[in-house]
Amino acid sequence: MTAVCVIGSQWGDEGKGKVVDILGEKADYVVRYQGGNNAGHTVIIEGKKYTFHALPSGTLRGIRSLIASEVVLDPRQLVKEIEGLDREVDLGIDPRTTIIMPWHNDIDIAREAERKKQTGSEIGTTAKGIGPCYEDDKNRSGIRFYELAGDKKRLEDRIKQVYETKKKVLNMYNTKPAQKLQEVIDQYTKLGESLKGYEADVSLEISDALKGKKNIIFEGAQGTLLDIKFGNYPKVTSSHPMSGSIFDSVGIPPIKLRTVGITKAYVTKVGSGPVVTCLDAGQWPVDETKSDAVAKYIRKIGKEVGTTTGRARRVGWLDLVALEYTHRINGFSEIALTKLDCLSGLRNINIATAYMHKGKKITDYKGWDLDFLNECEPYYETFDGFGDITDARTYRKLPKNAKKFIQAIEDRLNIPVSIVSVGPGREETIYRSFKKFK
Ligand code: GDP
Ligand code: IMO
Ligand code: MG
Repeated sequence: MTAVCVIGSQWGDEGKGKVVDILGEKADYVVRYQGGNNAGHTVIIEGKKYTFHALPSGTLRGIRSLIASEVVLDPRQLVKEIEGLDREVDLGIDPRTTIIMPWHNDIDIAREAERKKQTGSEIGTTAKGIGPCYEDDKNRSGIRFYELAGDKKRLEDRIKQVYETKKKVLNMYNTKPAQKLQEVIDQYTKLGESLKGYEADVSLEISDALKGKKNIIFEGAQGTLLDIKFGNYPKVTSSHPMSGSIFDSVGIPPIKLRTVGITKAYVTKVGSGPVVTCLDAGQWPVDETKSDAVAKYIRKIGKEVGTTTGRARRVGWLDLVALEYTHRINGFSEIALTKLDCLSGLRNINIATAYMHKGKKITDYKGWDLDFLNECEPYYETFDGFGDITDARTYRKLPKNAKKFIQAIEDRLNIPVSIVSVGPGREETIYRSFKKFK
């Protein structure tokens, strides 16, 4: 058995999809273990773009793709993705997975409006119903996959029962469900029928796989700074992208994992919340009239627009204070550095190595205290820029200044940057110590 997890080390959109696809070449299983279709993972093969929200990105390789219990699953999106693929999917969905229902979207939208009214600031959720669905899971009223794909009458009864409660919740926000009860019953009964064949006890399947000589990828969604507990709460998602959560989602005891921290050569964030190195005037949504020229440059070259929502992502310099923190939480064995090509052409490149807080230099990340983070200023080390690197396929071919940038990450974290991505395509990759499955 070899098990590798692919974890976002920042605020999401680090390029997890690309790394999962690379590992997928010789994998037997790919397992999504948290989040839902708030994720948007992009894989580009021979110029063709594939975007995954509900399906694991490894699906493209034709390997066994599993959705584990802590995922919140939107069957409307899943069916769309399955039908949109030009190949068969070998998919298994854990019966315990909680299902996103139309009222979760309604409540997500209503809560965001309420937050804006009360505090002047929304989280900037994807409106995919993620938070409200996790709430139902935890308050023990969620509809689970075995119910969706099971007996029709039982599903109908469950929908009727929950619908009435959700009407009351939405009424509190002076709104009502976007869909009529019968519409939801008809839609979800049909979805349940078409997904019936996919039920699989993921815990059992992965337990067996771990006993054999199987290669397993655990595919994270979002990023550690969006973790419900260890991220910048409340400006976070409602799940645990961190590596430790894999075990309770899949239902296996803790095992030693190779943990690849996917790290973009700069940072981006969709949604509100503090980003100490932000170059967009700390502002959400982005107002480019207030942005630094570097932010506009990187956003353009890096196409930093949300895969799921189409919103401009805020951009900032690489933050080693935050990265050291997410390394501690996840125990990265290595870093996969992505989008280094998007820094090409800049005269100078900054990396935050510390923060200044009221005149004091600090290096520990207090990710939980947003007021404190908002008072921090980045303390930068400045590097000389480098030219085009998109054609580099070996470390040797990289310019000296690009190597210095990579070295700064390794020196700080004490782990290797095992792979460097210099473009979105599969082949636009420099392999160093990164090991593909055998
Ligand atoms: P994920 O959510 O972590 O899977 O990342 P996304 O797919 O949302 O965002 C990453 C974007 O950057 C996608 O459009 C990728 O195709 C693209 N990408 C990934 N690696 C690189 C890279 O090294 N260079 C460039 N220019 N684009 C990249
Ligand atoms: P991938 O997997 C970037 C952000 C949203 C919002 C916050 C909460 O592609 O990296 P939610 O809808 O989850 O309740 O929104 O989390 N967010 C992401 N940002 N990449 C993602 O996924 C994200 N998934 C959620 O923008 O700020
Ligand atoms: Mg994404």
